[in-house]
Amino acid sequence: MKKRLLLVIEHCEPRLSKWLKLEYHHSGKIWGKNLVFTRVTQKKTQQVLRTLGRVESRPAKTVFSGKKCLVLDPQATQPFTTQDCKHADAVIVGGLLGYEIPQGRTKQLISDSAGFETRHLGPTQLSIDGAVFVVKAISEGLSLEDIEIAKEIEIVHDNIHSTILPFGYPVIDDVPMVTPGLVEYLVKR
Ligand SMILES: C[S@@+](CC[C@H](N)C(=O)[O-])C[C@H]1O[C@@H](n2cnc3c(N)ncnc32)[C@H](O)[C@@H]1O
Repeated sequence: MKKRLLLVIEHCEPRLSKWLKLEYHHSGKIWGKNLVFTRVTQKKTQQVLRTLGRVESRPAKTVFSGKKCLVLDPQATQPFTTQDCKHADAVIVGGLLGYEIPQGRTKQLISDSAGFETRHLGPTQLSIDGAVFVVKAISEGLSLEDIEIAKEIEIVHDNIHSTILPFGYPVIDDVPMVTPGLVEYLVKR
């Protein structure tokens, strides 16, 4: 039997912000075991992430050199499929927070130098945990077209103020799957 697909989150942000921590934590909940964080160079961040999975200070391209890995990159030309999950050893997600206008940081910081094939998850920029959810759903047999994505969400703070999160969120039972704790965190800030 083929062993279960490894999910790799390549930590590319300079610090582990509360927002990033919430997305990583939720990613761990979604994926469960077989989660690896790569390029984690700071001791404190290593300690925190060890509670969620295996932690490597080296980048994925070094840790998984010679393995069949796929980088999830919004700029990829091919979609990610269930068939990919059958052949790959690991899928690499960028540990990167998004900007309203995607900056191509996955390509710059991971794909361009990794030497692995790339795949996309549709035209909308997803959050890290959103991407992990979609990978899990596809690994279980769904195709990209089966997964509904809300193009943005609005977080209402009070009668006057709200924040638009311009990212894609998978819709489950008609409700966008927002990172647990994120709304409370944004409302409090
Ligand atoms: C919030 S996104 C960061 C994207 C980054 N701003 C960029 O422009 O490449 C976090 C990670 O989720 C994955 N991801 C998000 N949306 C994706 C998509 N539509 N296709 C492929 N990967 C995606 C990528 O691995 C990406 O590095």
